[in-house]
Amino acid sequence: MILSIESSCDDSSLALTQIKDCKLLFHQKISQDEFHSNYGGIVPEIASRLHAQRLPKILSNLKEFLGGDFSTLKAIAVTSEPGLSVTLIEGLMMAKTLSLSLSLPLLSINHLKGHIYSLFINQEKEIFPLSVLLVSGGHTLILEATEQEIKIIAQSLDDSFGESFDKVAKMLGEGYPGGPIIQDLASKCHKELYSLPIPLQNKTLAFSFSGLKNAVRLEIEKRGDSLDKNALAYAFQKSACSHILQKCKRYFLEKKERGESVSHFAIVGGGSANLFLRNEIDKLTASFGSKLLLAPLEFCSDNSAMIGRVGVREYLRGNFADIDKIDISPRNTQF
Ligand code: KG4
Ligand code: ZN
Repeated sequence: MILSIESSCDDSSLALTQIKDCKLLFHQKISQDEFHSNYGGIVPEIASRLHAQRLPKILSNLKEFLGGDFSTLKAIAVTSEPGLSVTLIEGLMMAKTLSLSLSLPLLSINHLKGHIYSLFINQEKEIFPLSVLLVSGGHTLILEATEQEIKIIAQSLDDSFGESFDKVAKMLGEGYPGGPIIQDLASKCHKELYSLPIPLQNKTLAFSFSGLKNAVRLEIEKRGDSLDKNALAYAFQKSACSHILQKCKRYFLEKKERGESVSHFAIVGGGSANLFLRNEIDKLTASFGSKLLLAPLEFCSDNSAMIGRVGVREYLRGNFADIDKIDISPRNTQF
């Protein structure tokens, strides 16, 4: 089996994945939400220290699960890019130590590829070619993935989808992460009181969330004490998701004009847990005759099970990393 490690942001997570059938045998993750909540975003120094405490704790649980016998392990897979440098390094150090002490090869895994493979956790079958909407705290991308390569078709000019939810929650004086908080507030809105602009309604496929974020700020300032938070959360979620939907529709139309079909479309990343977005994209893909793939909700946000799933693939291909050369690449956006 493969032991996988994820520490690219604020989730410390370790998993064991069986190589022969991709079954997830062990998975544990400890999030840090309450520590960053007061700041309305991740504080890297705090995140790094918490990983240093928690990764060994999870490793000890994993050791117990294995009855202290690591002999069934074949490789160590670790997220090396992209992410926060001071948190990626914690996972990499653990991976190198395990690799040296157990004489196991290393697999260097791209976190975004991990999100795509979250679709294939617990299953051997991989579905390609695949068009992907990746919406996380760091990225908003439309990707085209085949077995061999992943191409970036569209990206955000500024903030990401998830980040904009985090910032709006902060402006509303709520906690972190903002995605579930905004979704929850929006679900309590029974009357559409506010309307916010939909960003970049032009012919490009690019995303942008900074203007919408500013519109939220202005609305908060204008309303003062009479602000209805639920209605604002609803209006924001609607505009942010409509923006994504408009761009995805444009993507489908452009493909259609070129005579190309999209047999499978997927939404992955933390933002793919958004129920409004899931619903709307479901309707859109159906209208273009495309099949929608979604990861189970528990694997939408960061986790090591998805890293282990890519790990199996890389292991079977013999794509091992050299312990002297493996390094973190915090800002890498290539695949
Ligand atoms: O993929 P992820 O766990 O971490 C990164 O790789 O960035 O994504 C985290 C992001 C956060 O910004 C969080 O607010 C957002 O995903 N998120 C959501 C929802 N649940 C999590 N955004 C919108 N709606 C949600 N329900
Ligand atoms: Zn992620």
